[in-house]
Amino acid sequence: MKMTEQKDNTAHPRGWDPETLKKMDVKVWSYLEEYENEKDEIHSAVEKVFSSGALILGPHVQEFEDKFSSYCDSKYGVGVGNCTDAIFLGLKALNVGKGDEVITVANTAVPTVAAIAATGAEARFVDIDPKTYLMDVSKIEEVISDKTKCILPVHLYGQCVDMDIINEIANKHRLKVVEDCAQAHGALYKGKKAGSMGDVSTFSFYPTKVLGGYGDGGIAITNNNDLYDRIKSLRVYGMKNKYYALESGHNSRLDEVHAAILLKKLEKIDDYIAERNRVAKIYMGQLGNASLALPETVEGNSHVYYVYVVKHPQRDEIITKLKERGIFVNVSYEWPIHTMPAYSHWGYKEGDLPHTEKSCKEIFSLPMYPSLTDEKVKKVCENLEEVLKEI
Ligand SMILES: Cc1ncc(COP(=O)(O)O)c(C=O)c1O
Repeated sequence: MKMTEQKDNTAHPRGWDPETLKKMDVKVWSYLEEYENEKDEIHSAVEKVFSSGALILGPHVQEFEDKFSSYCDSKYGVGVGNCTDAIFLGLKALNVGKGDEVITVANTAVPTVAAIAATGAEARFVDIDPKTYLMDVSKIEEVISDKTKCILPVHLYGQCVDMDIINEIANKHRLKVVEDCAQAHGALYKGKKAGSMGDVSTFSFYPTKVLGGYGDGGIAITNNNDLYDRIKSLRVYGMKNKYYALESGHNSRLDEVHAAILLKKLEKIDDYIAERNRVAKIYMGQLGNASLALPETVEGNSHVYYVYVVKHPQRDEIITKLKERGIFVNVSYEWPIHTMPAYSHWGYKEGDLPHTEKSCKEIFSLPMYPSLTDEKVKKVCENLEEVLKEI
């Protein structure tokens, strides 16, 4: 059974097995070069925690919460196990639950929607702008109902959704806003940091992220003291004082070890973003005339290029040919969430979100990570240009 699964996976144009991946000249993402450079700092941060005597919710988590929320121009941070939990706990703190609706997009990572579903609420999907792949904010009001409690914009691929419009609609309809910033650490919207504009904002520190750890991690940030207290309590079983629960909560804590590593990496976050922009600039320069839709940055946004997404109607053919040339690319995301079996009970069908569905068929992401060398980026471009001529 296992063998068959692996075989099917490898046969798929985007499928991979560890051996194939090792042979790839250019990977879509890798942390290994970065680790080589930062090894000493990372090891000494880990050692410090191991020998400190405080392993859970100790000084590193507190310091990281303070420094990361301040980096995001926000007052408070609650370090949690991952961003899925941060969204879930953020929504719970806003009293979102059964019978409520949360407006979001269907071209996001599954966890955005899984977190909504975990509260008992339903997601209502808005189509996207086909050029930026971001939520089409002009369509939000069409899906607002008596049950709508919250808008959950996703700052997809590294740039922000139009937050002025979202907040205007939220104020008009008395809705809450949760920013999903899992892909947008450090991104700016009209000079404002991603995460500083919603009631609660959530980030992931999954290794691939702009600020990525060496395992899972997440944070919910807010400017609201009551929400801060509530999320802090919900992450430890709903307790306020030790062994005394005010409400039924959960267990989702950022580890001291990860907080210590993330503190080290936070010092370099703007360098990581600059490196990502370096890579993006080469792609833009080299592929400017290629028959391919390149990412568009909305005026007023500054992009952090979590991923570099391009679009072509013959996407699958291109991916197969690039793979033959030792270049591995990715698709995020191939399947729109409203068509997935997990959420079929919400009543959506294919055709409901035409721009989302079309883009899921045509997009793919080129290798992107801070330590990707100029040579490798150029190699991707040269191969891609040749493949585009062949098809
Ligand atoms: C947009 C988005 N939201 C939420 C998540 C969930 O993050 P995590 O894996 O930390 O739970 C991710 C990560 O995959 C993401 O990309």
